[in-house]
Amino acid sequence: MSQTLIVRRAYNLHLIEQENRRLATQSGDGNTVLGGLITSAPEMVKVARTIERVANTNVSVMLLGASGTGKELLARGLHDASSRKDGAFVAINCAAIPENLLESELFGHEKGALTGAVKTTEGKIEQAQGGTLFLDEVGDIPLPLQVKLLRFLQERTIERIGGRKSIEVDTRIVCATHQNLEAMIADGRFGEDLFYRLAEIVVKIPSLAERAGDAPLLAKAFLKRFAAEMNPQVKGFAADALAAIDAWPWPGNVRELENRVKRAVIMADGKLVGAADLDLAGPGSDDDLPLNLKSAREESDRKVIRHALARSDGNISSTAKILGISRPTLYDLLKQYDLQT
Ligand SMILES: Nc1ncnc2c1ncn2[C@@H]1O[C@H](COP(=O)(O)OP(=O)(O)OP(=O)(O)O)[C@@H](O)[C@H]1O
Ligand SMILES: [Mg+2]
Repeated sequence: MSQTLIVRRAYNLHLIEQENRRLATQSGDGNTVLGGLITSAPEMVKVARTIERVANTNVSVMLLGASGTGKELLARGLHDASSRKDGAFVAINCAAIPENLLESELFGHEKGALTGAVKTTEGKIEQAQGGTLFLDEVGDIPLPLQVKLLRFLQERTIERIGGRKSIEVDTRIVCATHQNLEAMIADGRFGEDLFYRLAEIVVKIPSLAERAGDAPLLAKAFLKRFAAEMNPQVKGFAADALAAIDAWPWPGNVRELENRVKRAVIMADGKLVGAADLDLAGPGSDDDLPLNLKSAREESDRKVIRHALARSDGNISSTAKILGISRPTLYDLLKQYDLQT
């Protein structure tokens, strides 16, 4: 991506953020919809819009995204944006529960139906009555149980293990997986019928690296939160930290970012968190260092302006203040470097 494009994106940040805030507070009662979702990236705003649009229908939604991209946050946001928001949001991580317990977790059991079943217990499906059931890592449900789940989705009734009566359950299904279900269907490891029941709407969540500008934005929000909770002397990021955050590929997505910022805030000595505190201080390569003085200066100007814009959320007055120049001078520079929108 060219420098100009990057700067344009930074410059556009505040507009997109405004739109994002507007989107986030659109619900009639003033509660935030998709609460807590932070993004300035059009790719992610589009995801949020899709979620909002489908929230009030009963269609099943499948969220596809790598680990840490915000699948659970979006599932919760979907529930909160729906007319079921006063019902329960029940999440079950199908990968975290041993196979032999998963059936009882989902469907519940009657007293005495299993060893150790000392009392009748409702399963997660039943607990989500009137609300939303979030089936996380749905690709990890073993085949026999997939059949049982499909039957529930077709008939909307369940029977607890060891139970004789069928219980009607009205719940909205949202599921997520990081697995390639199409490949699993091809190998016979995931039922095609179940897939189509679960995936009436499929939402692909972009990785953090695909959301230009989001890493620094999220980092600032996390820093603010963790500093308030754990280390109030920390006030912000040093410039090298923001640059490193911008450049890092974030294989663990938002979860990795959140963890690194949390650790850095806890460990920080001074007011500013540096790249080293984030464990992102790379060796630094001189390979692409421009040796022409004029272009080196321009490049460094662009970089500094970009950071100042990002730190002030695109506000011209505060950007000028950070840079120690007047507003007209800043406007001149933006023009000179073709940074205006
Ligand atoms: N866009 C976002 N804005 C603010 N916080 C976010 C955003 N995306 C994710 N988070 C936060 O990052 C963490 C990871 O998100 P979440 O648990 O929703 O991801 P996930 O895709 O379910 O991850 P995993 O695959 O690891 O279960 C959570 O603490 C969540 O609140
Ligand atoms: Mg999750």
